[in-house]
Amino acid sequence: MPERAPPAVTNPAADRVEAEASERLAPSPEFLARVATVREALVKTVESAARARSSPLVRALVAGSAARGTFLTDRLDIDLFLLFPPELARERLREEGLALGRAVLSNPETRYAEHPYLRGEFEGFRVDAVPGFAVSDPSAPLSPVDRTPFHQEYLSRRETPEIVDQVRLAKQFFRTLGVYGSEARTEGFSGYLVELLVLRFGSLRALLSAARSWRLPVRLAEPGKEPPRLPAEVALILADPVDPHRNVASALSRRNLALVILSAAAYLDRPSGDWFEPRVPAPMPRNDALARIAERASHVTVVVLPRPDLVDDTLYPQLRKAERAIADELARSGFELLGSASVAGRDRVIVALEVAHARRSTVRTQDGPPPGLDRVGHFLGKWTASDAPVLQGPYVRPDGSLAVESRRAEREAEAVVRGFLPRLALGKDLTPRDPTTVEVSALSGAPESPALEEALRDLLGKRLPWLDRT
Ligand code: CTP
Ligand code: MG
Repeated sequence: MPERAPPAVTNPAADRVEAEASERLAPSPEFLARVATVREALVKTVESAARARSSPLVRALVAGSAARGTFLTDRLDIDLFLLFPPELARERLREEGLALGRAVLSNPETRYAEHPYLRGEFEGFRVDAVPGFAVSDPSAPLSPVDRTPFHQEYLSRRETPEIVDQVRLAKQFFRTLGVYGSEARTEGFSGYLVELLVLRFGSLRALLSAARSWRLPVRLAEPGKEPPRLPAEVALILADPVDPHRNVASALSRRNLALVILSAAAYLDRPSGDWFEPRVPAPMPRNDALARIAERASHVTVVVLPRPDLVDDTLYPQLRKAERAIADELARSGFELLGSASVAGRDRVIVALEVAHARRSTVRTQDGPPPGLDRVGHFLGKWTASDAPVLQGPYVRPDGSLAVESRRAEREAEAVVRGFLPRLALGKDLTPRDPTTVEVSALSGAPESPALEEALRDLLGKRLPWLDRT
């Protein structure tokens, strides 16, 4: 069933808080006028640069939140789309797009998302110049950004000034929770997703009133119109109105949607201005972490790898996979795993793992086959050999199967991780070419770095963020 906005519940405290926050977030009319002027100047400048270069540019347009007024002033960037003919070769699209961007932006810097683009400045504003194809059907995009002009058209036709206001409020709410942004590191809500949600429910309040009773996964797609090929761990399904095959919320993690569901109830029951005041969560210095693990009587192992030359959006999915692989292998190796975290720093990546004990038991119990199977001979042969590292057995268990208890060579978590690391599939870019560049150490001996402190916060400082606000 599609969700509908529930009946509005009066909430005078929330009215007050939201009115104050909206006013603070609203750009001044002068600033909006300035953005509009710069937008037009930017498009004109690009178009004349295109003519001067005889560039095959079809159209230039500003899309994204700067085109709609739905930006948060302190993180405004202008998204400039440079659209080229669909038949242009990809290589030419890249070259022409970057060259045009360079012609109009100062301090240009090439960046890569799914797709190369140029970041620079124009009349004091930060601009992302993104080349794409001028397709006529957004459900058949040739590059990942080709739907954007259609998003722009879809939203700008429907957004009233009240909705624009509510979008900014909602973005700030999500930002304060730490779930704003669809980058791989954040796995949160993209600006476009927030706009669609606000448009659908009519306001942040109505969105949160619905969200407080959501259960994962949340389906907001019309029945029978769900995008195909949804991953098993999908959190939210909302079809892109300009391309029903695409789930707009594909980057959103279950954790982050769950956080929103819980925060909806917490906010609606106790609204306050703090919900609209983002604070960067403090990193956890190594000594604080050491004090915590002393209290917990647990142990933390830190794996440090050199950072491959990749942008965060490409690196984080690999890093999270590597973290899971190491954590799972530790758990399979006889450690009680309490948690794990990973962070990509400037020149190294860190995986931190918390286990209940620094050393696993010497005894490893190995299951054998039940009597009567051919394999019994192999099992008994192997474990009765004179050099077999047997501590007890082989013996028969109450259920009739054979077992043996063998001696483990390594007991320390660090030694065990060092032992299995070369066998794990860490992803092609994370596997270091030189294995000696991998450092595995107990927390007390781990090299200090800002990335380590962030990983420790994620590992040992987990708590619903609104609980400690006044
Ligand atoms: N876009 C998208 N899906 C994403 C990221 C971007 O469809 N995961 C498209 C949207 O059309 C979006 C535009 O690219 O409006 C610009 O992207 P971005 O700057 O990330 O979003 P904004 O809507 O401009 O929001 P913000 O205020 O965060 O910049
Ligand atoms: Mg933007």
